[in-house]
Amino acid sequence: MTHEIRLRLIQLAAEARQHAYAPYSNYQVGAAVLTSSGRYFTGCNVENASYPNGLCAERVAVFKAVSEGEKEFLAIAVVTGNGGTPCGACRQVLAEFGLETLVLIVDADGNLRQEASLSQLLPGAFGPADLGR
Ligand code: THU
Repeated sequence: MTHEIRLRLIQLAAEARQHAYAPYSNYQVGAAVLTSSGRYFTGCNVENASYPNGLCAERVAVFKAVSEGEKEFLAIAVVTGNGGTPCGACRQVLAEFGLETLVLIVDADGNLRQEASLSQLLPGAFGPADLGR
């Protein structure tokens, strides 16, 4: 993946973060995925007064993409204030669609804090193959 594409993914995630609805945690997250067909989808976290009903930015982005027919993800950028990493549930959802997906973890200043594949972030992942798929 070229430097320009990485920057674009990070930029899109940072823009999506501006739409985060996080009045309870005040922890804004933005995400952007790049599909193998070259399309970009973004997401932000969306919280709810009934706390467990909120959703993480990564899953919003992935579900938007899947809902539009995209299931192969080359990379995802995640932007938070402090460079926090994707939660376990988001790692599991990403793992469903491939363990090679590159994850770029970025802070609000645009610093790349960590770069890892899904297989590195979720070793021994339970996936479709465990169900014979
Ligand atoms: N959050 C994400 O959007 N992605 C993650 O991977 C970690 C957590 C959100 C959920 C909640 O709205 C807020 O950050 C605090 O947990």
